[in-house]
Amino acid sequence: MRIIVGITGGIAAYKAPELVRLLKKAGHEVRCAATEHALEFVTRVTLETVSGNALYTDLFASGRTEHISLKDWGEMLVVAPATANIIGKVANGIADDALSTLLLAFSGKPVIMAPAMNCEMWAHPAVQRNIATLKSWGIRMVGPEEGELACGVSGVGRMAEPEQIAGAICQGERLKVNPEGELNTLENKDNQVKKGERWLVTAGPTYERIDSVRFIGNYSSGKMGFALAQALADAGAEVELVSGPTFLSINHPRIHRTSIESAREMYAAATEVFPRCNGAILSAAVADYRPSECADHKLKKNGSEGMHLDLVQNPDILATLGSMKTDKQTLVGFALETDNEEANAQRKLEKKNLDYIVLNSLRDKGAGFGVDTNKVTIIGRNGSRKESPLLTKQEIAKLIVEEVAL
Ligand code: PMT
Repeated sequence: MRIIVGITGGIAAYKAPELVRLLKKAGHEVRCAATEHALEFVTRVTLETVSGNALYTDLFASGRTEHISLKDWGEMLVVAPATANIIGKVANGIADDALSTLLLAFSGKPVIMAPAMNCEMWAHPAVQRNIATLKSWGIRMVGPEEGELACGVSGVGRMAEPEQIAGAICQGERLKVNPEGELNTLENKDNQVKKGERWLVTAGPTYERIDSVRFIGNYSSGKMGFALAQALADAGAEVELVSGPTFLSINHPRIHRTSIESAREMYAAATEVFPRCNGAILSAAVADYRPSECADHKLKKNGSEGMHLDLVQNPDILATLGSMKTDKQTLVGFALETDNEEANAQRKLEKKNLDYIVLNSLRDKGAGFGVDTNKVTIIGRNGSRKESPLLTKQEIAKLIVEEVAL
């Protein structure tokens, strides 16, 4: 593989030549691109010697389009160390030197970053927001690690060791981009949840009985929720699947299914199991209202032109789990919208105390109820945002699980 190693101005830059050496040893072709500040920590001669190629540092030195020819040459770009500065620049679309310009030009190909900085800087909300943005675009982070830092304190911020970064590169990881170039997610990522994790998934519709033969329901088939349960189980989780009425069946040793009919039954099952779970994804289409009374016989026409049903509100399961949630639990809701999609989803995310909301719109052809496909935007409480193209519900489920559970 043709790999570009980008080096920025942090003390960990002294480890970059070792990374280049390991990559060369593994049979890759390597070229280096460094910022001006990086050369305070590692010399041009060293980088050119270990890579066997000229170092790229100056946007204007050898023709103004070298960032484009280098971008065309490279199959993967690895930035090690990645300072808070370069992370912030890329997250905000700033291209003011050779490396940041190359990074912006390098779209549609895999990018890996190995952040390195002081622990306070790493913890700063601006850095965390920028990291979330880069991750939502499919940029893979390796590290940082916890340990003693160059500034003398201990904490999270140390660059991953060159062997670890080289290992991540050599795992054969590559970004999967759909024909339109919309999806930017990692294939073959280590897609297992922590051992013993338990997740709750709600799926399907609820039926709210009017009498012994009729109900208020909706068009949910359960396909989205069942695909989520399968994706979580495939990732190693124990899954508590609480499902409304559906013809679907599922057979996996780690999926424990509870079948319910009404919103109140789903509420009882979900609130009972949630305290034992590491996270929950609520994809069920729950009836907001139910008839205040349910006749125990078939209601007959009574001769009058109309009929009035008195409805009362059902409990909001998602909001209840949001109020029960501890810091260690991840709560994911769905939003099925027909207009003002983003604003409504954002409002639900905040009001129900969620970590993520998965927005799907009935305005998107092939998305929503009943169909085998969906198109979603996964919005995180930390500002992350991942948009999918139209994919099968199995692929969408995998994408959601990768984003919220891995
Ligand atoms: O089952 P499929 O045919 O595959 O269709 C999938 C789907 C369209 C049902 C699914 O992708 C989806 O969008 N599910 C959420 C549907 C919905 O009811 O959205 P909402 O915006 O009304 O509800 C917001 C969230 O609150 C949802 O997570 C819902 O599960 C939850 N909720 C709503 C009401 C209520 N009383 N309790 C809840 O927990």
